[in-house]
Amino acid sequence: MTSNQLSQPVYNYKVVHQFALATVFWGIIGMAVGVLIAAQLAWPVLNFDTAWLSYGRLRPLHTNGVIFAFGGSALMACSLFIVQRTCGARLISDRLASFVFWGWQTIIVLAVITLPMGMTTSKEYAELEWPISILIAVVWVAYAILFFGTIMKRQQKHIYVANWFFAAFIIAVAILHIVNNLAVPVTLTKSYSIYAGTVDAMVQWWWGHNAVGFFLTAGFLGIMYYFVPKQAGRPIYSYRLSVVHFWALIAIYVWAGPHHLHYSALPDWTQNLGMAMSLILLAPSWGGMINGIMTLSGAWDKLRTDPILKFLVVSLSFYGMSTFEGPMLSIKSVNALSHMTDWTVGHVHAGALGWVAMISIGATYHLIPLLYGRKPGEMFSIKLIDLHFWLATIGTVLYIVSMWVNGLMQGLMWRAVNNDGTLTYSFVETVIASYPGYVVRFIGGGIFLSGMLIMAWNIWKTWQITREELASGKITQQEALA
Ligand code: HEM
Ligand code: HEM
Repeated sequence: MTSNQLSQPVYNYKVVHQFALATVFWGIIGMAVGVLIAAQLAWPVLNFDTAWLSYGRLRPLHTNGVIFAFGGSALMACSLFIVQRTCGARLISDRLASFVFWGWQTIIVLAVITLPMGMTTSKEYAELEWPISILIAVVWVAYAILFFGTIMKRQQKHIYVANWFFAAFIIAVAILHIVNNLAVPVTLTKSYSIYAGTVDAMVQWWWGHNAVGFFLTAGFLGIMYYFVPKQAGRPIYSYRLSVVHFWALIAIYVWAGPHHLHYSALPDWTQNLGMAMSLILLAPSWGGMINGIMTLSGAWDKLRTDPILKFLVVSLSFYGMSTFEGPMLSIKSVNALSHMTDWTVGHVHAGALGWVAMISIGATYHLIPLLYGRKPGEMFSIKLIDLHFWLATIGTVLYIVSMWVNGLMQGLMWRAVNNDGTLTYSFVETVIASYPGYVVRFIGGGIFLSGMLIMAWNIWKTWQITREELASGKITQQEALA
């Protein structure tokens, strides 16, 4: 209970705590909506003939909820924690930190209200209408000032590599968001993009792919570079590899967007360039994965007893898997089969559940007890963390395997032709054949979600026992940071 962070009130842990709790809260909400839309695909009656409950409106609520509310909160919690710890400096301003937290939550609440009402730009992952879009830019700039301001007043000369990844993530997302959202407003709730046709598609997927590259990847790699060595109690395997990994990743990711637009009106050379860059991307991605996994050299035995480390290491395995699958999907002949099928959705969730969610969960389990003045990872129940780990792993595997089966089947059925050149299957036959896969995905999602509920309970109990220890004088008020 006397871990060193307690004697260092120099840090602003309040905002880290707020974002960590928001991560769990929005994780549950976002995934619950995911489970609901998964159920709607299996049993359309669950749309209840109600516009705001319909799949078309809830799907963007799910994607915004899990990416920006859940993932965004995890990224902000971890980056604001790591930047303080590795720089030996408190955040530059408590007020600015509070503004970033409440500003981000306001944006999420506005998304929760407007998306089911059908207000949307209809650009994927950039659906929120212009007033909210402007608010995102403002809060993001505040976040950037908070982060870079803290880097500038650091006590250490060296900038730890995790901060490099956060820096790239913050700068890239700001540029991408602003450029992709340039629009002409017509009313308070409707605007039109300033881009048209193919240019619009290219700008949109330049954003879309880099949302994957910088939001769902670079930022989480920052989390990985701090928490994997911490939890394993080992230094990072190769600092040199992490620097090479960093520059290679950010230099290549920005070129890969056209792989979302294969066989479209986009010039062929652009599509081929996107494919080539996507294939090259395998190298830095695996460089990062290997660096993370090899950090466990000499500490592999800890995997037997430490479920938090299991979360972190398995997330890296899913990262490796999805960044192998991605380059394969970007090959034009493979994409001709996979595009528009559930294979893409399976790939997405190998990254989203296996990598993004698992690493966020692992990092949160490390962080929460520490914020309550306990030892890192000292949660109420380690057994429940282990149970959560297995639920998350089984849920993810059920999700992605069912989508692989569905995706391949759909792609093959759609292209099957009879001797006379007519299509062998009607579209509805492929929908009927997809039904078992949708049910399995729903079950997998439900299992993953149940793990999140266990996590919330475990955090609640950890908070309670900390309060009890405080009341019984086992720890002092000063020690209990939260
Ligand atoms: C309980 C867990 C989850 C379930 C049951 C679930 C379910 C779904 C479903 C049913 C779809 C629509 C698929 C379609 O259009 O055919 C979807 C889309 C999506 N989900 Fe999830 N999801 C979950 C967790 C997550 C998480 C944690 C993330 C991100 C961190 C995520 C990111 C996405 C994205 C990006 C899409 C859009 C995919 C695309 O356009 O190809 N999901 N999800
Ligand atoms: C080397 C890394 C990766 C490459 C080259 C790659 C490549 C691809 C390709 C080719 C597609 C299919 C595009 C289509 O047919 O429409 C795709 C879709 C997608 N990938 Fe990846 N991927 C990579 C890693 C990841 C990771 C780690 C994540 C998540 C954390 C991810 C999330 C997504 C999402 C959300 C989509 C669906 C976009 C949409 O249509 O809405 N990817 N990716």
